[in-house]
Amino acid sequence: MQLTWLGHSCVFLSGSRKILIDPFIEGGSAAGIPADIVAITHGHEDHMGEVVALHKKTVAITEIARYLRSKGLAVEGMNIGGTITVDGVSFTMTPALHSTFIEEAGPGFSGGSAAGFVIGMDGVKVYHAGDTGLFSDMKLIGELYHPDIALLPIGGRYTMGVAEAMMAANFIGAKTVIPIHYNTWDKIIADPLTLKSAVERTTDIRVRVLQPGESMDLLP
Ligand code: NI
Ligand code: MN
Repeated sequence: MQLTWLGHSCVFLSGSRKILIDPFIEGGSAAGIPADIVAITHGHEDHMGEVVALHKKTVAITEIARYLRSKGLAVEGMNIGGTITVDGVSFTMTPALHSTFIEEAGPGFSGGSAAGFVIGMDGVKVYHAGDTGLFSDMKLIGELYHPDIALLPIGGRYTMGVAEAMMAANFIGAKTVIPIHYNTWDKIIADPLTLKSAVERTTDIRVRVLQPGESMDLLP
């Protein structure tokens, strides 16, 4: 499987299936990405992005699922703590400590709760934390699902910053951490190399700093 960070919170997993998470690309478009399934962590615009226009099979929390069905999409609704399998790919919805509403829908459509995912495909498990503050039940995500890779927000202000992400990396225990949700805008400036040096100096966890558009291979 190959993982590509498309900037901000947008991640593309390409293996036996092609999964696009949070299809918002600052200054670009997700329209050309050949996704089979789109997964949405929560209703904020910088995560829903182009989900309606993409019109793919989508995985989302029940409230967002209901909204997207009203737009004609085929949606697998689920909720926090649950696991579903879609086309051979497992999606476990994890908690996220964050607010939410469906920004593009206006009043009348709640976004439910913000969430994250552990996605299992081709023998690899990827934890995408979504937008979240640090919470100690990240330990449970590590103990229960043993993700190989953890995608963690580090931009601060709206999510964890670097200091909290250091502790999150320890809680989760994934072999590899990839920082996301930073440097998209002035309000979420962070230095991923600070996280890298601090984590790698004190643990066996490796922090892989990707550039937007950069890919890495994930082996089972
Ligand atoms: Ni958000
Ligand atoms: Mn966000």
